[in-house]
Amino acid sequence: MKILVLNGSPHPDGATSDMVNAFARGAESKGHEVRILHVARKNIRGCMDCGHCRNREKGVCAQKDDMQEIYPEILSADMVVFASPIYYFTLSAQLQAAIQRTYAIDIPANVSKVALILSSGSPYVYGPAISAYYQSIVEYWGVENAGIFTANGRQNKSEAKRQELYRFGSSL
Ligand SMILES: Cc1cc2nc3c(=O)[nH]c(=O)nc-3n(C[C@H](O)[C@H](O)[C@H](O)COP(=O)(O)O)c2cc1C
Repeated sequence: MKILVLNGSPHPDGATSDMVNAFARGAESKGHEVRILHVARKNIRGCMDCGHCRNREKGVCAQKDDMQEIYPEILSADMVVFASPIYYFTLSAQLQAAIQRTYAIDIPANVSKVALILSSGSPYVYGPAISAYYQSIVEYWGVENAGIFTANGRQNKSEAKRQELYRFGSSL
């Protein structure tokens, strides 16, 4: 399976990346191909609702920024993992920008399953992020939710959390 991870944390060595890397090691141990894209370190602007992708060139976004390299990755993936720190009770703005820019390609036909990885300072802060994930991705794309994983406070970068994410990756 080709697995794409969209990591919305600006920290390549942060807590979100720690979970993502453990997941990737587990998935790769079972022969899956994992590609991690750090969307928060890319130039991805918000959707302008210009209508280009719907009315002029179907499926083509008029904004020529780093999202252009991400579209083919999403379209060729079998699974997409969304990873993000919690910012103000929801997904990071950088990951939300990438998700909203999928408006151009609409529902990626090849993707059959998705997952969500979240890191936060506090517990019980995940409601809006999980709701956005379910409504915008799981239900809208019509795909299987393979799992939702969270770490808060001292769980971040813990060996127990790494093992949990490794097990998830190796279960695919
Ligand atoms: C702008 C901003 C907003 C945040 N909002 C929340 C929040 O609402 N709830 C929470 O528990 N943690 C919040 N945090 C803390 C981060 O979610 C937490 O530090 C996380 O582990 C960072 O992950 P990273 O190391 O992958 O960047 C916020 C951090 C920042 C910078």
